[in-house]
Amino acid sequence: MDRIAIIGGHALNGEIPISGAKNSAIKLMAAALLTDAPVRLTNMPRLADTRFLARLLRRLGAEVTETDGPEGPETLLHTPEIVSAFASYDLVRQMRASFNVLGPLIAREGHAKVSLPGGCSIGARPVDLHLKALEALGAHIDLNEGYVYAQAPRGLIGAHIRFPFVSVGATEHTLMAAVLAKGETVIENAACEPEIVDLAECLIAMGAKIEGAGTPTLHVQGVGKLNGATHAVTPDRIEAGTFAVAAAMAGGKVRLTHMRPAHISALLDKLRASGVSATVGETTVDIHRGPDRLQATPITTDPYPGFATDLQAQFMALMTLAEGESVIRETVFENRFMHAPELARLGAEIEVHGGEARVRGVEGLKGAPVMATDLRASVSLVIAGLAARGETVVHRVYHLDRGFERLEAKLSACGAEIRRLKGEEDAA
Ligand code: UD1
Repeated sequence: MDRIAIIGGHALNGEIPISGAKNSAIKLMAAALLTDAPVRLTNMPRLADTRFLARLLRRLGAEVTETDGPEGPETLLHTPEIVSAFASYDLVRQMRASFNVLGPLIAREGHAKVSLPGGCSIGARPVDLHLKALEALGAHIDLNEGYVYAQAPRGLIGAHIRFPFVSVGATEHTLMAAVLAKGETVIENAACEPEIVDLAECLIAMGAKIEGAGTPTLHVQGVGKLNGATHAVTPDRIEAGTFAVAAAMAGGKVRLTHMRPAHISALLDKLRASGVSATVGETTVDIHRGPDRLQATPITTDPYPGFATDLQAQFMALMTLAEGESVIRETVFENRFMHAPELARLGAEIEVHGGEARVRGVEGLKGAPVMATDLRASVSLVIAGLAARGETVVHRVYHLDRGFERLEAKLSACGAEIRRLKGEEDAA
């Protein structure tokens, strides 16, 4: 498997175009199952996760065509009929978000058999809220041998659902099922992430009736059928935030383009507090870090519009070089500090106690071999490598390929010394 080698110490200067959001794209692709008409998604990221989901959707009956349109990469999804309502363990295990086909399959076909995703490297991540919401909508659900067997032969029925805590995936899943349910569904304590708004906008373009996307209460009036639509995937706020932190870490001046600055306001506030200049345009953000040392800055992750858990690892990498001690609290996922011991291999001083990490800034990091453990953790190691003296080699970069499009190309275009080493990995 591939590795990424970085020689640190080069400032970043230039422009980085932000791609369409992975987390949006994969839900929009699943939503295309809800209609027998073609759905055209523009501004699509080309990632291992989208390719993987395309494979699953083809097995379910979708024709998936990737093209390069006038505005960049597009994916056309067309499912004239569902030929199979089955998503196997092997498919769901490899990409958790495959589980999201369950709702659309029940809504369109009245039944589905989909593997439970199982645990993953950032905590237990159960799907109980997804299943309870589908049951509230009238699906009969049995769990057997690791599979969800769902039946709703006479269709789903609108319901009042209140989530006990905010879940992005459960909100999206419920929304996708409710759009074809009979009558009204109200979802309370819904997630407000931009990806929810993006999904709702796409579903509305397909003929769904949804109000309140981006607020904690969603109202859905079920419709009998959805049509096709064309929809542009929202820019990837996590990719944008990652490059903002990378620029802050390496120093220099970077303009992020094709993005929505408001989506990363919480991060930009923290970057400014640590001494980085962030200037916001309509679809751009200019990040500039001068010669002064960064200042320790605490963060607490929270659902949107709070500080994104998907940017926590990157910010921790940045704080390893700040002056003073930064307290980093993770409240969204358990066990999401696996990057801490890897950052320590580069010389970072981090103490983890439960959901809290204390980072004592050091004067400098030194390159070393490190191992990626999950998608966002792995990019934090790349970011740290940009500032570390000497060479950092990040192993298991398949995690990165799941969610970052042309990462090395985008960074090296701004002056980073980063390259992919093809082939074998360590035997760990
Ligand atoms: C999505 C994102 C992920 C991001 C996360 C939080 C995708 C593909 N992934 O993940 O990148 O880090 O939102 O912004 O969009 N939970 C339960 N039961 C459930 C569902 C969730 O206990 O049925 C818990 C989770 O374990 C976690 C918390 O709720 O502790 C929030 O998870 P959730 O918002 O659902 O995250 P995902 O949708 O899985």
